[in-house]
Amino acid sequence: MTSNIVPADPGRVLIFDTTLRDGEQSPGATMSHEEKLEIAQLLDEMGVDIIEAGFPIASEGDFRAVSEIAQLSKSATICGLSRANFKDIDRCWEAVKHAKSPRIHTFIGTSPLHRAIPNLSMDEMADRIHETVTHARNLCDNVQWSPMDATRTEHDYLCRVVEIAIKAGATTINIPDTVGYTAPKESAELIRMLLERVPGADEIIFATHCHNDLGMATANSLAAVEAGARQVECTINGLGERAGNTALEEVVMALKVRHDIMPYTTGVESTKLMNISRRVAAVSGFPVQFNKAIVGKNAFAHESGIHQDGMLKNAETFEIMRPEDVGLAATNLVMGKHSGRAALRDKLRQLGVEVGDNQLKDIFVRFKDLADRKKEVYDDDILALVRVSDDAT
Ligand code: KIV
Ligand code: ZN
Repeated sequence: MTSNIVPADPGRVLIFDTTLRDGEQSPGATMSHEEKLEIAQLLDEMGVDIIEAGFPIASEGDFRAVSEIAQLSKSATICGLSRANFKDIDRCWEAVKHAKSPRIHTFIGTSPLHRAIPNLSMDEMADRIHETVTHARNLCDNVQWSPMDATRTEHDYLCRVVEIAIKAGATTINIPDTVGYTAPKESAELIRMLLERVPGADEIIFATHCHNDLGMATANSLAAVEAGARQVECTINGLGERAGNTALEEVVMALKVRHDIMPYTTGVESTKLMNISRRVAAVSGFPVQFNKAIVGKNAFAHESGIHQDGMLKNAETFEIMRPEDVGLAATNLVMGKHSGRAALRDKLRQLGVEVGDNQLKDIFVRFKDLADRKKEVYDDDILALVRVSDDAT
């Protein structure tokens, strides 16, 4: 069996975005129908490979959103989630089937804690996996299967059920770190072990799906890629339950900026990251923290005099990527009490004000005095200082 989604380039990493499914499951992040369509369109235009558009059995609204996104999508594969039963899988297929490239994603919790919930023995669960993946594959030739809580599942059992899912026709096997418990070394070892021990593992794609409970989701995802995973599951701004999911923008930019040590590529157009980040923040109601990697308000902002001076001489001194690469117009040199004279002169030039050395000295003293009283000094404040200085000199 050969999957229809294995890219020819062995270094190509597929980006699977689940903002509209796992992201939206975040308490309080519910999006309207129109908002979901808008985000799906942005994801599609940005070059995301697979969009998990929702959980069709969950509600009429989810079903409608997944089926409309399936019909509207121009290039991304459209995926829906389903539990391990025929009713869920049939509903999922009904929603995704009109997509140019549909995918059914079905899952079941395989760790001891999760097996206890449906009260299935190991053998009974193995049979359920065989039946449900076979059923999904009879409907769709692109089937993803996930052993939920894989990182806390016994290794022998995990190998056994992954082999069953592959034999039943799964084309992608996703390895979720459902509770954000794993660490980079372990995340890599798990993928390596599956690739070595499971027959047929080299014919499918392994995906990594990490949660950020210990703040390691991106590191764990990248470690899995280095071990052989070729699909990363992630969300815009890391939106997701509890501490969230792996942040799409972090994975994309890490692979771009550190291509020297991680020679993998994605199909995502990084200049579209800032816009989609802002739209997801707006529609989900989850603001992006100021110091969030890549898309935070301060990710390309500098206030200290030493940093501003360095930035004015050579941006690479304190920036490892260009703001334009993520869709920002320019670096933001924030004027505050830590700013130095070089930054003030530069700011005055930007505002069209040319002053001599003596007047710069005078404005600088006034600026420092104001900055001690105010968190951030805005352009209008600086122009007011220039007028006061003009009157005084
Ligand atoms: O975190 C998780 O285990 C999931 C699965 C449904 C893939 O989101
Ligand atoms: Zn998840």
